[in-house]
Amino acid sequence: MGKRVLLFPLPYQGHITPMLEVAALLHSHGFSITIFHTTYNTIDSTKYPSYRFILVDDEEISSQFRSLVGGMVDRLIAWNNSCEHLFYDCLTSVLSEKNDEPIACLIRDTYWYNLQYIAKKLRVPTLVLRTNNAATLNVHMTYPQLVQKGDIPVQESELDMPVIELAPLRMRDLPCVGDCSYEVLSKLFTDFTNAIRASNGVIVNTFDVIESTEVEKFQKAIPIPVFCIGPLHKFTPLTRSSLLDEDRSCLEWLDTQTVGSVLYVSFGSLACIKFEELIEIAWGLANSGQPFIWVVRPGSILVKDEVDFPDGFIKAISSQGKIVSWAPQKEILAHPAVGSFWTHNGWNSTIEAISEGVPMICWPHFSDQMGNARYIVDVWNIGIRLEGKLERGKIERAIKRLMKEDEGAEIRQRMREMKHKASVSINSGGSSFINFGKLLNFMSSF
Ligand code: UDX
Repeated sequence: MGKRVLLFPLPYQGHITPMLEVAALLHSHGFSITIFHTTYNTIDSTKYPSYRFILVDDEEISSQFRSLVGGMVDRLIAWNNSCEHLFYDCLTSVLSEKNDEPIACLIRDTYWYNLQYIAKKLRVPTLVLRTNNAATLNVHMTYPQLVQKGDIPVQESELDMPVIELAPLRMRDLPCVGDCSYEVLSKLFTDFTNAIRASNGVIVNTFDVIESTEVEKFQKAIPIPVFCIGPLHKFTPLTRSSLLDEDRSCLEWLDTQTVGSVLYVSFGSLACIKFEELIEIAWGLANSGQPFIWVVRPGSILVKDEVDFPDGFIKAISSQGKIVSWAPQKEILAHPAVGSFWTHNGWNSTIEAISEGVPMICWPHFSDQMGNARYIVDVWNIGIRLEGKLERGKIERAIKRLMKEDEGAEIRQRMREMKHKASVSINSGGSSFINFGKLLNFMSSF
């Protein structure tokens, strides 16, 4: 007899994708899949006919937050509070159904921390899906201690000081989200960590070779099982999970480009840029002379409703580049014509680039992204960083360094080795492959 797994992703692209990948992986191993989803960023259930979807109707609360760009943390806290009773009702109703397949467990996003206690109350075992990396687990665990010690708030003069407890991070790499205060962040991270402590285990979209030290450190403090089974998108049969329509014409355009010549530029699903930055990016790309694909997501330019490119830019790049509003990113990164990725360093984008061996120009914006960039540039040496105020000259220089000079060739070589390690980890006998087997055993022990 099969078992059912219940899954509840946080309703953002960077969280829904890895959760659906876990669902697909478990489904391919005989589990029935039930997915809770919200009205905010509702998942199109018709795309997944083998799964059951249950709506947690958060319309009342999410409608108040729909237009809040800077208030991501407020939104998260409000969601957790208001979804408590909604989720309780949904879970109780699922548990009361007559069904031959027993429930194995609930897999929830790290950021649905309040829901941990509901599952516990209803005696449903829980696994936490970590959609960012293992290092960020330690950052969240340690941040409140840094506040207690007085290291946070960070003084301007100490931004480049190492964080002893979180090497290799520096003070400037610690998470910030909009203008959210450090007190609020500290409380939130405490809530995340306590809820993880109350769970049965953690699944992380990473692989042992790059993060075993971080996992060990976490487990020393919180001795619960951790299963690193990434890169998930390479391990699972699922290929599509996009909330927005992908412009697939850029794949045909890529077919016409020389191997390794194209720079792919995308800042993920949440980060926004200033209008002045848009202008600098536009001319930096044009002046570099390098072919490019640039994703300019609708609504991603702060204060502007419409994307307004500088005069003469579109004409200047007509045979050099392609601008799209949303791209099939994983396929682009896997295309042989793509030679580099200018990224905001969201964890999904980072692990997707690593899996395809594409070196990165790092331009982190918020949350875990600064920490991810630190590992990419200073630990793994698979990318370079854009520092300080964004200027077209710096952009042009960074593109040349990575795509034309010896420094770039060395980085590309290291990236090829990293790609190989990622691929080994998910193949038979590799660490993620073995960890997934352990995860299945663990789930059958509930
Ligand atoms: C943010 C965080 O920075 C990230 O670390 C966290 O885990 C989730 O929230 P986000 O801005 O969504 O992430 O970036 P990222 O984690 O990189 O995820 C973006 C996803 O959107 C990737 O899977 C990427 O392939 C996809 N994408 C992006 C597209 O499919 N098309 C695009 O045009 C752009």
